[in-house]
Amino acid sequence: MKPIHMTLALSLALSAGTALFAKEGVTNPTVKARQDTMQTIRRNTAVLGDMAGGKTAFDPAAAAAAKAELAAAAAEIPVKFEPQEGDPKSEAKPEIWTGWDDYVQKAEALVAAAEAVDTASLDGVRAGMGAIGGACKSCHETYRLD
Ligand code: HEC
Repeated sequence: MKPIHMTLALSLALSAGTALFAKEGVTNPTVKARQDTMQTIRRNTAVLGDMAGGKTAFDPAAAAAAKAELAAAAAEIPVKFEPQEGDPKSEAKPEIWTGWDDYVQKAEALVAAAEAVDTASLDGVRAGMGAIGGACKSCHETYRLD
């Protein structure tokens, strides 16, 4: 189970990397703000994923900080995405606003997955990565252009 979770988390961190610079050239400040929230989510997921995968040393304080930042940023998703704003560089699908309640539920699923991570041990972080990766994927595959 653990290797599968790790692989998922790491491949997610990597695939998210393809959109690392998507915000270059974004002119709509509302769109930029929501992409910045996603970047905060990506950065903190990578901190946890790197520890889970053994790329960086396990550090319970750093893991706890990443968990807290991830949960806080995920909790911001509904506020940041509520205005239906567009930008040529946006990857947001219009289904976000026609399926708003479902979209909010998917954001809440990420908050719950982040909050459930036990950062006291490396095993705890590893065990939590699958649900976090699943929450990203479940939302992106429906609501984000690829
Ligand atoms: C509730 C839905 C939802 C969840 C959950 C979610 N995302 Fe996103 N994400 C989006 C949408 C929609 C976009 C496109 C936003 C835009 O371009 O306007 C996006 C964009 C991104 C981007 C590109 C940001 C940019 O600068 O253009 C990254 C990186 C990202 N997400 C990472 C993650 C990671 C990692 C997770 C899980 C830990 C995650 N997201 C969870 C909906 C979600």
